[in-house]
Amino acid sequence: MNGSASPLQIVVLLSGSGTTLQAIIDEMQAGNINVEIKAVISDQSQATGLTRAENAGIETCALSPRDYPDRQGFDHALASCIDRYKPQYIVLAGFMRILGKSFVERFAGKILNIHPSLLPRFRGLDTYARVLEAGDAEHGTSVHFVTAELDGGPLIMQSRVKVLEGDDEESLSARVKERERKMYPAVLDMIAAKRIEMKDGQAWLDNQPLDHPLEFDPSK
Ligand code: GRF
Repeated sequence: MNGSASPLQIVVLLSGSGTTLQAIIDEMQAGNINVEIKAVISDQSQATGLTRAENAGIETCALSPRDYPDRQGFDHALASCIDRYKPQYIVLAGFMRILGKSFVERFAGKILNIHPSLLPRFRGLDTYARVLEAGDAEHGTSVHFVTAELDGGPLIMQSRVKVLEGDDEESLSARVKERERKMYPAVLDMIAAKRIEMKDGQAWLDNQPLDHPLEFDPSK
């Protein structure tokens, strides 16, 4: 962990079980990453991820899309909620809503996402079913900056797993999620250390544009 800089202040957005959030909390509490979660926000008031946040003493907020006339209205309320916490980065961890262009532009270069595929392969939903159907030899997960293009922003880091004989969605997702739980906190710590940023529409590492995503080393 980079101990010298002040902790990276983040807000996490999620819709579901929050195992990815939990991994970040665990690494934070173990002192392995220099990150502080200011709040966890969900579009689902029943999301288990909110309970995980509460158990860790983190502020939570739920906003229901049904309370707003359109996407813009919801995005605006979400942005106002986020602004209260003045985070340096917004971290999507299983947030199942598409964010509109004006939201993304408002926080340009400061939104991260983790997507369960080796982007640009398999943008969108159901990546496990689609990779099995396609018969690919490998699958994986990608951390990227968010732009208005769905799952299309600059890639930061990827982790590959082999698709094994007899794999189904459950077995494959278990192996990919295990990697996600290590890789996302690792990327956040590199951002905290000011090693990674988005500039001129590209991801940069140590002041050099990243031509290829970094490969996550699971042994570390
Ligand atoms: C993760 O697998 C991530 O790749 C995707 O959503 C999933 C969230 O799972 N974007 P959880 O809610 O953190 O368990």
